[in-house]
Amino acid sequence: MTDYKTAFRRSLVHPEEFWAEQATSVAWYKSPGSILGKDTNGNDAWFSDGELNSSYLALDYHIEQGRGDQTALIYDSPVTNSTASYTYSELRGEVATFAGVLASLSISKGDRVIIYMPMIPQAVIAMLACARLGAIHSVVFGGFAAKELATRIDDATPKAILCASCGVEFSNVIAYKPLIDEALQISEHKIDHCLVYQRPESVAEMANPWDRDWDSLLAVAAPVDPVSLPSSHPLYILYTSGTTGKPKGVVRDNGGHAVALTYSMKNLYNVAAGEVFWAASDVGWVVGHSYIVYGPLFAGCTTILFEGKPVRTPDAGTFWRILSDYKVNVFFTAPTAFRAIRKEDPEASLLSKYDLSHLRSLFVAGERTDPSTYEWLREILGVPVIDHWWQTETGWPVACIPMGLEPAEAKAGSVAMPVPGFDVQVVSESCEPLNADEEGAVVIKLPLPPGCLPTVWGDHQRYVESYLSEYPGYYHTGDGGYIDSDGYLYIMGRTDDVINVAGHRLSTGQMEEVVAAHPAVAECAVVGIEDKDKGQVPVGMVVIKDGVNIELGRLEDELVAMVRKDVGAFASFKRIVRVLRLPKTRSGKILRQVIRKIVDTKPYEMPATIDDPAILEEIADAFKQNGIGYIAQQH
Ligand code: COA
Ligand code: AMP
Repeated sequence: MTDYKTAFRRSLVHPEEFWAEQATSVAWYKSPGSILGKDTNGNDAWFSDGELNSSYLALDYHIEQGRGDQTALIYDSPVTNSTASYTYSELRGEVATFAGVLASLSISKGDRVIIYMPMIPQAVIAMLACARLGAIHSVVFGGFAAKELATRIDDATPKAILCASCGVEFSNVIAYKPLIDEALQISEHKIDHCLVYQRPESVAEMANPWDRDWDSLLAVAAPVDPVSLPSSHPLYILYTSGTTGKPKGVVRDNGGHAVALTYSMKNLYNVAAGEVFWAASDVGWVVGHSYIVYGPLFAGCTTILFEGKPVRTPDAGTFWRILSDYKVNVFFTAPTAFRAIRKEDPEASLLSKYDLSHLRSLFVAGERTDPSTYEWLREILGVPVIDHWWQTETGWPVACIPMGLEPAEAKAGSVAMPVPGFDVQVVSESCEPLNADEEGAVVIKLPLPPGCLPTVWGDHQRYVESYLSEYPGYYHTGDGGYIDSDGYLYIMGRTDDVINVAGHRLSTGQMEEVVAAHPAVAECAVVGIEDKDKGQVPVGMVVIKDGVNIELGRLEDELVAMVRKDVGAFASFKRIVRVLRLPKTRSGKILRQVIRKIVDTKPYEMPATIDDPAILEEIADAFKQNGIGYIAQQH
């Protein structure tokens, strides 16, 4: 086993040598000669003359290695009371034939395909089928409303949308097809095909000329082989929330992604071919892409697709059941899921019904893990609990205890050490390096390692402005934090307008656009405040137009309904606070960070640029009077 320090140092001092070596773990069709070069945008590009296919690496390669009969995918759905499992050979068969369906619809290399599906095997099959052809998939989380879907349709301009007739949330059946029909009415871009996988829980009406039945096409399709693709060819676009209401299309290449994920499975998660890896997330998020679908399959593991929730499907013991039934070796989920379990079963009494003896480690990410939940997990599970940090943009962990390199002691509240390849630094606003324990902006010195985003779909300038301009020579993560004297990193939260609600990344700007559209609202700001269950929840501060007489309860109901309709229920936008004016800098920027700190009762510095400091008192009073946030509880 290489030790962490040696690997880390080598990855920064000799990155080309380091990653050339890691690239040999991947079965390329054409091995790369160029390890680190520049792409047409002048950006760092890994393995640019290599050729490969991610669907081949995830499936065919393992069959060639003799693992055809090993289980590749287990589907467990407590919401529909069903399970299924696919060996590598069976999954390859399904993927190859579905790729045949796509090919029969003239979908080929470079075409975009939107996938709007719940957690069912067809979602994974669809992703891998696109990858097989070199079509670029863009999975949209099933909780997003029609308007959000329409924004993504217009940005990705897909040839086809692949969907299921419905999703199931606890006992609610959510029809997807009407949402797609509505999105297509809003969007300017029009598609050629909408393939619908009909589920018995709700059968979709197929009235549009572009509607196609999944199963009928599958019945007559012929399997197709994977095509050879340049390393830099996009594998997928995944939209993520940024500072503005318009989401950013994070692009992932094929080559860097395959090398990075393969490296991470062995060296970070310490899991091997034949073992069982479970990431309880959703295919609509980056965790689902990297660690439900591609990572475990690249590594020859068995992966689990769970269509349920940590609680009430049927109880707070569901996660323990899955871990036991499928002998899971390594588990990964969001801390919010455990907060939900702990709330319902504080003593973890349901755990005693299950055998978790195969579980070696638990990884958590997506939001900060509060020390109390962290200690609870360590105590009840008796295995290492590893809080690790990453983002949609990086595609794989930036900081972690690398269990395959050095299973060092974790520290509560810290995401541990930078992963090999990531030169993580903490800098001041003027980009000066800070000392140990000093809090500042968390940045990554360029070049980023393989697997990270090379651009924003269709808008390279936005990529440069969002990530590379503020701290020249560094990638700007958008997170604040510090590094302690042992080199452990602490992530203290976003420094921009991105919030994290129950592990779901959202933009306050996205919600502000909706709230501002209400005829009674003159001005508004949405802030993410701390919540003991969901980590953060959004609250809207609204200034009502002069002369408008509207009862506040009614306005709140209407705004909540608008955000549910235009963004999605998962945004958990439930409260508003009426204010007479918003706190702004002299240049008109709303001081969301300061408000957040006031409401969370955290220390803050009075910004020098504020136009009228008295306004902060008014805001604090408004939150107190409405009983919102920790400030109200302390009142
Ligand atoms: N499709 C449609 N609606 C969805 C949805 C989806 N995929 N996901 C969530 N929603 C809806 C819910 O039905 C709910 O609607 P309601 O307000 O009408 O009840 C609303 O969005 C809020 O959902 P959620 O945030 O999931 O809260 P909850 O109280 O229903 O459940 C948890 C709480 C903790 C169980 C849930 O948030 C959870 O499982 N979180 C983990 C998230 C995760 O894995 N993130 C991945 C990051 S690694
Ligand atoms: P996403 O792109 O949805 O994965 O969200 C990325 C953001 O989630 C990061 O920029 C952080 O703000 C937050 N995040 C992810 N993992 C962690 C973690 N382990 N600790 C604290 N914040 C985290």
